[in-house]
Amino acid sequence: MTIVPVSLGERSYDVRIEAGLLDRACDALESYATSRPFLVITDEHVAARQWPRLETSLAKAGLQTELVVLPAGESTKSWRHLEALTDRMIEHGIERRDHVIALGGGVIGDLVGFAASIVKRGCHFIQIPTTLLAQVDSSVGGKTAINSRAGKNLLGAFHQPSLVLIDPDTLDTLGRREVAAGYAEVVKYGLIDDTQFFEWCEANGPALLEGDGQARAYAIAKSVAAKATIVAQDERETSGKRALLNLGHTFGHALEAETGFSDRLLHGEAVAAGMALAFGYSVRRGECSGQDAGRVSAHLRAVGLPVSLADVGVTASGARLVEHMLHDKKMSAGTLPFLLARGIGETYLAKDVLLDDVADYLDDLPR
Ligand code: NAD
Ligand code: GLY
Repeated sequence: MTIVPVSLGERSYDVRIEAGLLDRACDALESYATSRPFLVITDEHVAARQWPRLETSLAKAGLQTELVVLPAGESTKSWRHLEALTDRMIEHGIERRDHVIALGGGVIGDLVGFAASIVKRGCHFIQIPTTLLAQVDSSVGGKTAINSRAGKNLLGAFHQPSLVLIDPDTLDTLGRREVAAGYAEVVKYGLIDDTQFFEWCEANGPALLEGDGQARAYAIAKSVAAKATIVAQDERETSGKRALLNLGHTFGHALEAETGFSDRLLHGEAVAAGMALAFGYSVRRGECSGQDAGRVSAHLRAVGLPVSLADVGVTASGARLVEHMLHDKKMSAGTLPFLLARGIGETYLAKDVLLDDVADYLDDLPR
C-alpha cells in the first residue's frame, strides 16, 4: 500500500492507495465506527457497480451501514440535494465527532464534503473516490462545493476529509471517456513542475488508459503526492502556489461555459484543451517553445483528449470566450490571472495578461 500524508497540522490525514482496497475497507474504517450505522452517500452508478464491494467488506467486520443513493451527474451538486442530504444526516443523528462516507466521483465528494462542513457546524467525512479525476484531484485538498444559478462551485467551504481511501480497481467499471478526462489532471501535474513525470506520462499514458494496473497505481500515487505537497503549502489558495493546480482551467472554463457545462465536454476534457491553449498562448507571448507546446498537444491527442477549439466544436469568437472567463471565480480585483508556461514543467501565474490579447489569440485559431 502507498500512504501519502497530507500535512496540515491538526487537519492532517492520510491518503491510502492500493488495488483491491475497497474489499478491505473495513480494516481502515473500523476505528471510525460509532453506535450509529455508517452513513454512506453515493450515486446510482456507483451504487450498482462499487457499493456491493464496500458493503460486503463492512458487513464482514460486523459494521452496520445505511446507504443514500443520489442521482448521477453534475446537477446533484445543488441546493436541493444539499438540503435533502443534510436533513438525512440530521435525522440519522450525526454528531460532530461522527464520520460520513463519500463513495463516488467528484460530484459526490464535493457535495458530501460541503454537507459535512455545515451539519452541526461541521462533522467529519471520509473520501472513497471512484473516478480517476476524484482519485488524483478532487478527493484531496478539502475543496467542497455545490453549484449556484450563477455558476459552478460558487457555494462551498474548505473542509478537509479525515481519510482518503483509493482503490484503483474501481476504475475497471468506469467508461474510457471518463478515465481519459481524469487523466488530463494527471498530465497537469507533470506540466506544472515535473518534466520527468510528463515524460513518464508520454511513455505510459496509453497503457494506463488501457487499464494497466501498475501504471494506474503509479500515476495516482504521484499525482496525490504532488497535490498534497501543494495543498500543505497553500491550503486556502492564498499564496498563489495552489493556484498552479488551475493550469488549463481558465481557458477550459470558457469552453465548458460555451458548451453549456454538459456531457458535450467533460470537465477533464475542457482542462486538456485548456492546457493546450495555455501552452499555445505562452508560445504567442514568446515565453515557451513551439516544440514544448507541440509535445503537450501531441500527448493529449494520443490518448484521445481534445486540444483545440475545433476538437471541441467551439466556433464562438474570442471576445465571447473571454466574456465567459470573466465569470470565473478566479477573478480578483477586476483582473484575471492566467496560468501560463515557460516550458513543460515550468508553469507560472501571469498577472499581466491583457484580455483583448487573449481574445485576439483565440480569434486567430482555426474553428
Ligand atoms: P462524477 O462524479 O459526475 O463522475 C462521473 C460519472 O462516473 C458519473 O456518472 C458517475 O456516476 C460515474 N462513476 C463514478 N465512479 C464510477 C465507477 N467506478 N464506475 C462506473 N461509473 C462511475 O464526475 P467526476 O469527473 O468524478 O468529478 C467532477 C466533479 O468534480 C465536478 O463537479 C468538479 O467541479 C469537481 N471537482 C472538484 C475538485 C475539488 O478540488 N474539490 C477538483 C476537480 C473537480
Ligand atoms: N482542483 C484544484 C484545487 O484543488 O485547488
